[in-house]
Amino acid sequence: MTGEPVETRLIRAPRGAMDLAGLRLAADALVAGKLVAFPTETVYGLGANALDEEAVLSIYKVKGRPGDNPLIVHLAHTGLIPTVVADIPPMAVLLIERFMPGPLTLVMRRGPSIASAVSAGLDTVAVRCPSHPVAQAFLSMAGVPVAAPSANLSGRPSPTYARHVMEDMGGKIPFVIDGGACEVGLESTVLDVTGDVPVLLRPGAVTADQIREACGVTPRRSSGTAQGPVRSPGMKYRHYAPRATVLVGVGRSLAARARHTAELVQEEVAAGHRVGVFAAARAILLIREMQKAAPDGEWPVRLISYGELDDSVQASVRLFDAFHPLDASGVDRIVVQSLPEKGLGVAYMNRVHKASAHKTGE
Ligand code: TXA
Ligand code: MG
Repeated sequence: MTGEPVETRLIRAPRGAMDLAGLRLAADALVAGKLVAFPTETVYGLGANALDEEAVLSIYKVKGRPGDNPLIVHLAHTGLIPTVVADIPPMAVLLIERFMPGPLTLVMRRGPSIASAVSAGLDTVAVRCPSHPVAQAFLSMAGVPVAAPSANLSGRPSPTYARHVMEDMGGKIPFVIDGGACEVGLESTVLDVTGDVPVLLRPGAVTADQIREACGVTPRRSSGTAQGPVRSPGMKYRHYAPRATVLVGVGRSLAARARHTAELVQEEVAAGHRVGVFAAARAILLIREMQKAAPDGEWPVRLISYGELDDSVQASVRLFDAFHPLDASGVDRIVVQSLPEKGLGVAYMNRVHKASAHKTGE
């Protein structure tokens, strides 16, 4: 699977006008052991038949993913969950009713049908039912559970457009299904429901508050680096990291965050670096003013705005998409404006911190 180049066929599946014959070809290839990238509402996934050990192992090879980092099993609808898990805890029933299909992944005891490589040696399996209509159509056509990590090379930002997938997977897998932009833009919330108290392994669009409201128990946060056994092996690896060093503009108010972001840009330019910026419109304006005031008017700065205010929805949708062109443009630094850590801001800041930890070590 690795090494030999393959021709990657792009299947177009815009909403309401899916290439059904193309989807069928891709689904048949997946059932036969090939890898297929497909859109979901969070990020694009790199799918393999979860019943086929060889196919699942090829995901790890193609991504360059460590073998002890387990994969999420994707199902066409919630009625299939009992086919892949040993049991469904009562708390999980409430969460499934409230949030699935959608951007929530539940870790439960694994059933015997799933290839062992999916769980990377754990006795649990992570399960998710995407709400994206193209994902649902593709999973129904395949008719098998589909193991899928995000469709990026290990250590690169998750793909939120088919073109991001092509950058990382073009020439390595036979099919990429193009369903346009991902609505959420950050990976799913991962919640372990095997114990009495749910453990939040990865924050996402389904927030801790929403989980508490749905099941009456406040989830415990797990960084994955705490003492004791690592419950989500993926959390110990570098993730979501662009090539450039990522710096974060912080502050108590929107104005302070914008100011700090602009100051960081000014310092980095003064130090001779080429700088990319992902920030609210206010910071972008401040940076433009500095640019105008610069002696020779030559500022090696690329600006991407996520909108007017502390808008965590827009910032999350655009974060990974911003990393791609900024990184490709060869900047040495990416300055990202922070958001308050509430609601979706928790998941956004989790990804920003991971991206900024990349060059400073783990
Ligand atoms: O939104 C998403 O979840 C996307 C789309 C494609 O569905 N998928 C995704 O997969 O982000 P991946 O492989 O990039 O991240 C899966 C995370 C990893 O941190 C992994 O360690 C954790 O889920 N995970 C998977 N199986 C697990 C298990 N049995 N126990 C604990 N953590 C698990
Ligand atoms: Mg990933």
